[in-house]
Amino acid sequence: MKDEVLRNDWIVVCKEEDVKEQPLQQIVLGERIVLFRNRKGIHAFKDLCIHRGAALSLGCVKDDQLVCPYHGWQYDDEGHCTKIPQLPEGKQISQKAQAFKYGCKVAYGFIWVNLNNNNPDFFPYEEVTGGEFRNVLWGPQSVEAKPPRIVENFLDVGHLAFVHEGYLGVQDKPVIGDYRVITEDERIYTTPIDVFQPDPDGSGQSKNVYYTYEVLRPLTVRFTKEEPNNGTKMTILLTIKPVEELKSVAYGILSFNYETGQTDEEIVAFQDMIFAQDKPIVENQKPEELPLDLQAELSLKFDRLSIAYRQYLKKTGVTLGVE
Ligand code: FES
Ligand code: CO
Repeated sequence: MKDEVLRNDWIVVCKEEDVKEQPLQQIVLGERIVLFRNRKGIHAFKDLCIHRGAALSLGCVKDDQLVCPYHGWQYDDEGHCTKIPQLPEGKQISQKAQAFKYGCKVAYGFIWVNLNNNNPDFFPYEEVTGGEFRNVLWGPQSVEAKPPRIVENFLDVGHLAFVHEGYLGVQDKPVIGDYRVITEDERIYTTPIDVFQPDPDGSGQSKNVYYTYEVLRPLTVRFTKEEPNNGTKMTILLTIKPVEELKSVAYGILSFNYETGQTDEEIVAFQDMIFAQDKPIVENQKPEELPLDLQAELSLKFDRLSIAYRQYLKKTGVTLGVE
């Protein structure tokens, strides 16, 4: 799963809280990585000891160093091998004794890795850093589909009245209010879309709201719901971890600038329920790759955000999950 664009980007791996005392194996873009925590923070290496290829994630952390389970070689958080127990006393450790280190960042409650370790820009997220919103982490949700199909489903306004009938739309109001997609430098976003929601949060009350969508990164997008009359705002960040062929994991952040009257668990459960409605659709779409040839599927006017997303993927040169 070589995709240089994604390897050059920050990819979500897991929640920060998932990394405990024991090193943790994760798979990102087909690569086995190990995450471990020491006093300096969380670090990511290839999950492979250069001695005999053992998985470092089966080892442990001792004195801030990652210890291989097989013959006890130790690595510091830069990846330098600092101890080879079998080496006769006084013998220098070879410079080549190095673990393969990835860029690793803790942000917004998640761990992100940069497989090419070239420290690209990271997208700002005011909802978490600005202090105005209550934030609830969502996921992991495994999906047997390629990431761009999952992202496009999230950006798709037309399905709400059908797949999420009774919650995010009703079938007798299927027409989507007109909207535009604005592309500025790296930013792609829609003008507000007027949407009728029969029961947007499970409280039984219908609402007319504005939806805005924004594409932040190839596999990271944001949705904002605003109520025009009272200034309440809710955003959902969706970000996808490409695991292996047809294996992806979705994560998200739900942010609210108002009192929802729901616990974190209730908010997550509602989102899980909505996502479970999308999952069989996305897992059965063909082709699995998102067609970047704009003539490949039949599009309507309301699909213009999907089209903009496809064009953006084409421009960035993403190869994974597109054709
Ligand atoms: Fe890791 Fe031998 S394989 S120390
Ligand atoms: Co949906």
